[in-house]
Amino acid sequence: MRSIVFCTTCRLSKDEKCNAQGVTGGELLAREMEALLADNGRSDIKVERHECLWSCKEHCNVLLRDTEKFSYLTGRFVPQRDNVEAILEWFDLHGQSEEGAVGFRQWPDGMRGHFIARIPPQIEG
Ligand code: FES
Repeated sequence: MRSIVFCTTCRLSKDEKCNAQGVTGGELLAREMEALLADNGRSDIKVERHECLWSCKEHCNVLLRDTEKFSYLTGRFVPQRDNVEAILEWFDLHGQSEEGAVGFRQWPDGMRGHFIARIPPQIEG
């Protein structure tokens, strides 16, 4: 199972938690991803939401989750189209790889400096 998990309680910026409509940065980022997937007719990636991923200083946080391969906690994103494009491009490369390892040279520029943790696949048995 592959999904992208957005922290819905991450801040919009250092100074503001929400926009003028009261929506958090993390929720806005999730909506950006949903719009990108819809614009590209994609239904193969599941968007999930979760409150606080315990990496609050690195807002906005996103967990690139895969139950069969390495998963990755990423952060320091802002709710803009170019940010979700980079996330999706990298996660597509991850999906094409055998173990969930993407060569550094393949990384989109927008993913450099955004990785926080690598999480091993689920233990079998
Ligand atoms: S509020 Fe997003 S990680 Fe804590």
